[in-house]
Amino acid sequence: MSALASINPLRPVLLAAARSPRLEKTVAGMGMTRKLVDRFVAGESESAAVAAVHDILASGRFATVDYLGEDTTDPAQADATVDAYLSLLRSYATLTASLDAPRPLEVSLKLSALGQALPVDGEKIALDNAHRIATAAAKVGAWVTVDAEDHTTTDSTLSTVRALREDFPTLGTVLQAYLHRTEQDCRELSGVGSRIRLCKGAYKEPASVAFQKPADVDASYARCLKVLMDGDGYPMVASHDPVMIDAALRFARATGRSVDDYEFQMLFGIRAGEQQRLVADGEHLRVYVPYGTAWYGYFMRRLAERPANLMFFMRSLASNN
Ligand code: FDA
Repeated sequence: MSALASINPLRPVLLAAARSPRLEKTVAGMGMTRKLVDRFVAGESESAAVAAVHDILASGRFATVDYLGEDTTDPAQADATVDAYLSLLRSYATLTASLDAPRPLEVSLKLSALGQALPVDGEKIALDNAHRIATAAAKVGAWVTVDAEDHTTTDSTLSTVRALREDFPTLGTVLQAYLHRTEQDCRELSGVGSRIRLCKGAYKEPASVAFQKPADVDASYARCLKVLMDGDGYPMVASHDPVMIDAALRFARATGRSVDDYEFQMLFGIRAGEQQRLVADGEHLRVYVPYGTAWYGYFMRRLAERPANLMFFMRSLASNN
């Protein structure tokens, strides 16, 4: 969810389009789309992702890698996603990051890519698949965080996360400040060892479950952030918003947290200068690095977040026609 939603009337249209297989074919088939996608996605191959992570670590930032894909309805596709993560984690072993806490290397998982939406036993399949990935991650000393998807999946995702945390106590998850329920979820998940990535939220959600006005989303983010910072867990401040970054720094100072007790996170290709500034100031900053061929939904959500991205996309369309 972008704080710019109210001045971007196309946001709901773009977010609906993000889930349209027909439009996916059209947009993916446009040659010049690639150049724009490259701004937000590290590449289609594992080697491109590993090269991006290498550069990120060399610059003093941390990384979390997401193998792109969501809403899988085919068990074979869910298996292929697990294989991609297992292979990626093997190549993490070649990266030279030290494995102290906080862990510089992490993977981010979408349960819907691991089978959560499969009609029979989806939740169990996703749990088993995530368990296999978390086992491999533990072997190479990488962290794992489970992404948040649309609100219809929140209960299932949080119960899967609770089950995974029994075996992997450092496993983290994402909470979305635009949901009415999230402040309470933050209270319940701010205990010792809990790693929570707090973001504003990027899906199209109804007013019955989510704040719609940007100011209300921002106010909720600030309240949730305070709950997490006041708690005993490890807050992960996933926002490019300077107001939220300042608030996080203030809360961290007020609660006496050291820089090892929380971290900032931003998306690949967004506000790289601010990422470096935070690192230069001694903060931990993790970059969320998506890769793979299934970039469409992720790309459309980035377009929906910012009218300037959309204008750039439209201008490229026009100049290529
Ligand atoms: P906001 O949208 O208000 O943007 C603040 C400023 O950031 C803008 O003014 C602009 O300068 C810059 N900016 C923001 N988006 C930009 C863009 N697309 N292009 C260029 N500049 C941009 N969501 C979700 O629902 N589930 C999830 O699991 C995750 N996971 C996740 C991980 C990480 C590490 C991050 C940083 C974000 C997510 N998100 C997410 C996405 C999140 O919900 C949200 O949509 C975006 O981060 C944008 O919100 P901001 O907090 O950055 O604020």
